[in-house]
Amino acid sequence: MADLALVVLAAGMGTRMKSSLPKVLHKIAGRSMLAHVLHAGKALGASQAVIVHGPEMPAVQKEASPIIAGCQFAEQKDRLGTGHAVLMAKSALAEFKGTVIVLYGDVPLIKTATLKDLLSKLNAKTKMAVLGFETDKPHGYGRFIGTKNYITDIREELDASPKEKKITRCNSGIIAIDNDLLWKIVPKLSNKNAKGEYYLTDLVKLAVKAKTSVAIAMCDQVQVAGVNDRTQLSILETAFQTEARKAAMLDGATLIDPSTVYFSADTKIGKDVLIEPNVVFGPKVTIGDGVEILAFSHIEGAVVGEGARIGPYARLRPGAEIGANAHIGNFVEIKKAKIGVGAKANHLSYIGDAIVGAGSNIGAGTITCNYDGYEKHLTEIGEKVFVGSNTSLIAPVRIGAGVNIAAGSVITADVPEDALAMSRAPLDIKEGWAKRYRAVKAARKAENSKAKDK
Ligand code: UD1
Ligand code: CA
Repeated sequence: MADLALVVLAAGMGTRMKSSLPKVLHKIAGRSMLAHVLHAGKALGASQAVIVHGPEMPAVQKEASPIIAGCQFAEQKDRLGTGHAVLMAKSALAEFKGTVIVLYGDVPLIKTATLKDLLSKLNAKTKMAVLGFETDKPHGYGRFIGTKNYITDIREELDASPKEKKITRCNSGIIAIDNDLLWKIVPKLSNKNAKGEYYLTDLVKLAVKAKTSVAIAMCDQVQVAGVNDRTQLSILETAFQTEARKAAMLDGATLIDPSTVYFSADTKIGKDVLIEPNVVFGPKVTIGDGVEILAFSHIEGAVVGEGARIGPYARLRPGAEIGANAHIGNFVEIKKAKIGVGAKANHLSYIGDAIVGAGSNIGAGTITCNYDGYEKHLTEIGEKVFVGSNTSLIAPVRIGAGVNIAAGSVITADVPEDALAMSRAPLDIKEGWAKRYRAVKAARKAENSKAKDK
């Protein structure tokens, strides 16, 4: 395949988002729209990318650079149209030979397979291809003028005749075009049209004039739906989630109530995984085979080993690594901690900045006191340790293998292997005290109410 470069249009500030964030940085399934588009393009094997952004958008650069190494940026100062926006990428691609794909930072659900299909239309005689969709509500879109497989023009809504307005095959805006042809014809675009903009869509007739045919590829509308406001953002979020749930089930996970489970764009779920209702996956989660995730759990930045059981009501935060067959139960929060194979923390705990050895049992209410107000410190717990309920582990601290910690202890020093560690105030029992106390209190109360009645 010829070399591939992406040009991503992302110059719109997105006034209708009513946001201080550039539109393309708003997220769907925990991933910015721009990142969705870049990932789809990257999976095609694009060797270069140019992002056309508006003035003062350092956040756009920061988002794109880690996704596509060597990604370039071009600023479009004035929004003079989609054709003008693409022109901004010209100098970045001066040395490039191959095919350019134009994508849109606010059209996030485009699939790699669809782009592959678009690219497959290109050949020696067909140096441009346009992605379109069929709709019974074509108002507002550019219409395809041509035959079933090839077009000779695209007519924008405002420039269309009543007859052309009836056309239901519409332009998505996404094109694939030979690099040399692109830079030969883009400078010829004019803005003599109803909007006074440089229309990228006019490339079609310019390409035909340059003696190449222009093919079309079609896809479903949701893949090329754009986002202008937050209601549209939520519609695409729903579309994404619906598909992700279906994919998880088809890959071998059981979702009891799919509509209440939320995935991130990068969530990885193994086979024979059970996911109960109301579970949220934040970014960077990998779930091993045979895991059970019980209701109302929130999981983010975590790796869960085979056969583990999480929840109900568990919270796994970034850096949680749960070993195979471990159990993390209700109201247990795990952050940046490795939980060994078969270890258990079943009730009401915070385990942060810690290593818990295989087979250890963390009693209810155990807290790793990892933060001293300035720094975070590590708690290391060996294998087969029994940590009694309501233990505070003051980090940094190491608990050797096989240790028993008595319930209610505050552990301020390292404990050697196989020891018992216990820190408790001595127990003081005063026989009959409670009975005497009640008698004194009741008598006083009776006296007080008599005094009031007088
Ligand atoms: C465009 C197409 C239309 C198509 C529709 C699909 C043109 C002339 N028309 O129309 O055929 O059916 O998309 O949604 O291309 N942008 C810039 N700089 C600019 C102008 C636009 O970066 O100067 C970006 C926008 O941020 C947006 C995209 O290009 O991501 C499309 O621009 P928009 O103004 O929405 O084009 P439409 O008029 O909807
Ligand atoms: Ca639009």
